[in-house]
Parts: sequence; C-alpha cells; structure tokens
Amino acid sequence: MSKEALAVPATGPLAPALYKDAPELTPRLGNRDLFGGLEPLVYMNHAGISPPSVCVRKAVTTLLTDYGKKGASAYPTWAAQRARLRDKLAWLIGAPGATSIALTLNTTRGISDVALCFDWKPGDRVVLFSGEFPANVTPWQQAAGTFGVEVVMLDGRRFPTDEAGVLADLEATLEQGRVRLVAASYVQFQTGYRLPLADIGKLCHAHGARLFVDAVQGLGMVSLDVQAFGVDFVACGAHKWLMGTEGAGFLYASPEAVPLLTPRVAGWLSHDDAATFLFEGPDLLRHDRPIRTDIGFLEGANLSAMSFAALEASLDLILRLGLEEVFEHVQKVNDAIEGPAKELGFRSLRSENPERRSGSLCLLPPEGVDVIALQREIVRQGVACATPDGYLRFSPHWPNAVDEADQVVLTLEHALGVVRA
Ligand SMILES: Cc1ncc(COP(=O)(O)O)c(C=O)c1O
Repeated sequence: MSKEALAVPATGPLAPALYKDAPELTPRLGNRDLFGGLEPLVYMNHAGISPPSVCVRKAVTTLLTDYGKKGASAYPTWAAQRARLRDKLAWLIGAPGATSIALTLNTTRGISDVALCFDWKPGDRVVLFSGEFPANVTPWQQAAGTFGVEVVMLDGRRFPTDEAGVLADLEATLEQGRVRLVAASYVQFQTGYRLPLADIGKLCHAHGARLFVDAVQGLGMVSLDVQAFGVDFVACGAHKWLMGTEGAGFLYASPEAVPLLTPRVAGWLSHDDAATFLFEGPDLLRHDRPIRTDIGFLEGANLSAMSFAALEASLDLILRLGLEEVFEHVQKVNDAIEGPAKELGFRSLRSENPERRSGSLCLLPPEGVDVIALQREIVRQGVACATPDGYLRFSPHWPNAVDEADQVVLTLEHALGVVRA
C-alpha cells in the first residue's frame, strides 16, 4: 500500500474520534507518556499483550459512564461506535466495505466460526502449517473430524530459511487436488517472519482454494491489503499489535467467500431485522426470519461493548501516527538491538528483507544458555519480553524510544552473565 493510502483521514467517518481537541492525548512515536503507570522500565511484549494507553482507558470509562447514566438508552451511541469501528477495520485491511467485517471475541472465535460454517464436503482437504500458533490449527482439526476433511500439514517452520521450498510444497499439494482452504498466519508468532501472502494467495486461487489468514501478529504493525493479496478470510484479535484489550477481535470474509459459509453458528441477532420485535410493536416476534447473508450473521448476540470502544481508541492512535511511520520506527528500535545482540552471540531470526519483517525481533541465545532462565533475568531487570516456543522475543511498538534499545542490550549482556555464572 502507498504511504498516501495509509495516511490517517483527517476528516470524515474514519477520522480519529477522541483526541481532536486534546493535545495531551496526542500520540508521539517513541514516547510512552500515554502509558502512565506502566511498571517495566522497557516494555517490549506487544506481541503478547499490549498495555492499554490512557486513550483506551478513557474510551472504556466514557462508555461505562454513559451506560451508568443512561442504561439501555446508551446502546445506540455504542452501536454507532461499533459501526464506525467496522469501517475503520475494513479500511485497515483494504476490504471492500464494512459489511465484510464481523466483530468477534478474539482471533480464535473467528477461526472456529469459519471452520464450523465452511461448506466442507467429505474428502476435502485443508492445508495447515507446522509451527503455527495452535489457534490456527485446533479449529481446523475439529472441523476436519466433524466433516470428514483431511488435514495436510506442511512444514511451515521452514518459511524463514526456505520460503521458496515451502511455496513449492504448497503448490505440489494444491496440484494433487481437493484442497478447499489454506490457513496461515500473516506473521509467525515465534520467529516474527512475515509470510509471502500475495504468493500464497496466488497459488490458492490458481487451484480453486481459499486463503484464510490469522493476522493477529501483524495488524497494527504491518499493512495488509486483502484484495491485492487474494486473502479470503482474516481473523484478528485486538490485544496485541492493535493495542486494544482482550475480548475483542474481528473477522473479514470477502464477498466471494461469504456464500461458502453455512450459518451453523447463529444467534438471535443473526437474522434480518432481528431486533424489531423489541422496539417496533407487537406481531413482529417471529422465528422464521432469514439469516443475514453478510458475515455479520456471526455477530449473533450482544458483544463486549467495552472492548470495542477500547479497540477504536487504540486503532485511532496507530492511524494517527501512520502505519508506515510506526513500522519504520519499530525497525529502528529492532536494528539497534539486533546488531549488538548478534555480537553477544545471539542468532536473529529477523529477515534481511523488510517485506518479511514484522514488529517482533526473535533471538536464539548462544549455545548452552537456557532461554527461560535468561528471559526471567531480563524481566527481573525491568525489560518485558517473552519466550514463545523457546525463542526470545522482543516486540516493541510505537511508544518505545529507539534509545530504549541501549537498555535492552545492557540487560541482555548482564543477564547472560548472571545465567552463565
Ligand atoms: C498467531 C496467533 N494466533 C492466535 C493467537 C491467539 O489469539 P486469540 O486469543 O485472540 O484467539 C495468538 C496469541 O495469543 C497468536 O500469536
């Protein structure tokens, strides 16, 4: 996507809502003033859970205060807020419109709903990748067992070292036929490697398969253009790179993919005109209303209103800073850690190719160093990071200053000394 395409709209329905007249709530790259109270000296675990900014907290408080004052009468305001959020999410991923977005509880819920609703035929095949976060495996395995579908597991762990090899394996598998869907993560959670979605999408479509993407390790940090990349479904949660809270996420389905879903998961709000019986008089309570034909049928009941207020506030900050600017800033932070870390004997999993990079910098410690003991020591010294799948992962975001990298490097050196002693 071009820089202009990613620039935050200054006016209109996508313009940031909360902060127009509040300079104290203006985000600045490399400045964590909006994260008052955050305890770690350096916070680099946004790929795990992002701390909520003051703006996120304010959005949630505003919602609760409104409901506290008005009760049910507050509902329309926040339903409108969610409509605005759907617009912004559609814009974020280049979706054709808000009707292709359903708000969900989390990434997993979006994956499970598609896995259960897809029009599987016995003997169909679904392609998964080893090394995936289980959220993008378990629902497909469950659906496979239920609908008589064969799971084909390709060696996705090879992506960072042999992308062409994995793509060749995928093509060979697709050529064998019967593959209906390929499920992949945009960014691998343990290596930070950004998958070549456009290539995967092209292969899928050339062989009549659909591409499902778990985007939770990417969105909020790297751009995604579902139409350009040929992505049919996207599931994403709010609490990582989008910097919202747990309990919110969204699902995208392309207009061509929605008809492939049978509403096996549906609730009272899945119907056309579902709520008229509550507000528009007698004789409207019916149990034969058709199920909505857009992906919104999966929003079958009341949602976590607070979490979606939070998500819009966090997304507004990112859009306001500019996605591309945020990505470039975070690469500077990671550059400043990666070089010295290599000198200390760490192996970096970060790609040389910026198009394969994400916000995560994942390292393997020098031979013989226990990664768990090392990470505990690093955290004890005030640097928040994680060890998914045994990799040491630093995941800075826009509030991290480039000079925080110095602290991280000092801490790495010191922690190595402690663990080796
Ligand atoms: C790639 C990936 N997918 C899914 C999840 C789980 O997300 P959720 O809890 O939103 O379902 C995680 C991490 O928690 C992840 O790293």
